[in-house]
Amino acid sequence: SSSPPPFHLLDIGCGSGKLTRAFAAHFAAAGFPAARVTGVDISAAVLVSARAQAEAEGFGPNVRFLRADPKGGGLPFEESRFDVVHCHQVLAHVSRPADAIAEMIRVVKKRRTGPPPGGLICLREGDLTTVRVTPASPLLEECFGVICAAHRSQGGEPAAGRHLAEWAREAIARKRWGEGGQRGKEEKKKKKKGKNAEADREAYGGHWPGRCRQGMFFEAAAAMGVPSGRMEEYALAWRRWIEDPMARIEMVHAEVLI
Ligand SMILES: C[S@@+](CC[C@H](N)C(=O)[O-])C[C@H]1O[C@@H](n2cnc3c(N)ncnc32)[C@H](O)[C@@H]1O
Repeated sequence: SSSPPPFHLLDIGCGSGKLTRAFAAHFAAAGFPAARVTGVDISAAVLVSARAQAEAEGFGPNVRFLRADPKGGGLPFEESRFDVVHCHQVLAHVSRPADAIAEMIRVVKKRRTGPPPGGLICLREGDLTTVRVTPASPLLEECFGVICAAHRSQGGEPAAGRHLAEWAREAIARKRWGEGGQRGKEEKKKKKKGKNAEADREAYGGHWPGRCRQGMFFEAAAAMGVPSGRMEEYALAWRRWIEDPMARIEMVHAEVLI
């Protein structure tokens, strides 16, 4: 008899691939070296560095990165291909998030009456409208207001976490879900996430000074009339926040498991 295909995880909107590689490392350490991990992202540029980093860290062909966008049937995979579909901090940027979730449902394994069990879709989004900055920084709070407006001007939803369960329900309602009908196992959990260690502050905030000075966020803010001098003040406020050992940023996140 033929052996089952190896466990396969899809990481949607993988960005730099940090979490994608962490999954692969976890599977290898847990004794599943044949497990496969595929990261997809809409940005070709981030995929170049994700691939280079995976190679530098010694990952083989089990870890791969492809350009794809889950909206509107945009994932280049056949039905029921993946054991797990993971999507972290991506739907906030997507103009039709329920379409993207429906596409995740298409490619995840479906529940059968017996084994193998159905696959799992793991969604996690923040709610940028709940950000609390410590120590209090009116400049960074104003900057987060600009970040939220820039998200909306590009068709995204900065309060994605608040909408995640409703998007998931909409996508589930649209899909036929295997023999058992709609699976409907859905969980919503909210928690505060604090950023306090220096490495965390650099990882979270390190790219913001640059983004306040050039690139898509800078241009979106300029289109909304934020002067470049104000953007420079935000950049400096980010740097002060990163360097302050007492600094934190907290925000509500929501998780949905389908
Ligand atoms: C905030 S990053 C999150 C990266 C990664 N998931 C993580 O948590 O570290 C958002 C990523 O989503 C990607 N993205 C945005 N819209 C997308 C879409 N429609 N399809 C695929 N990726 C998308 C962006 O290019 C970016 O790399």
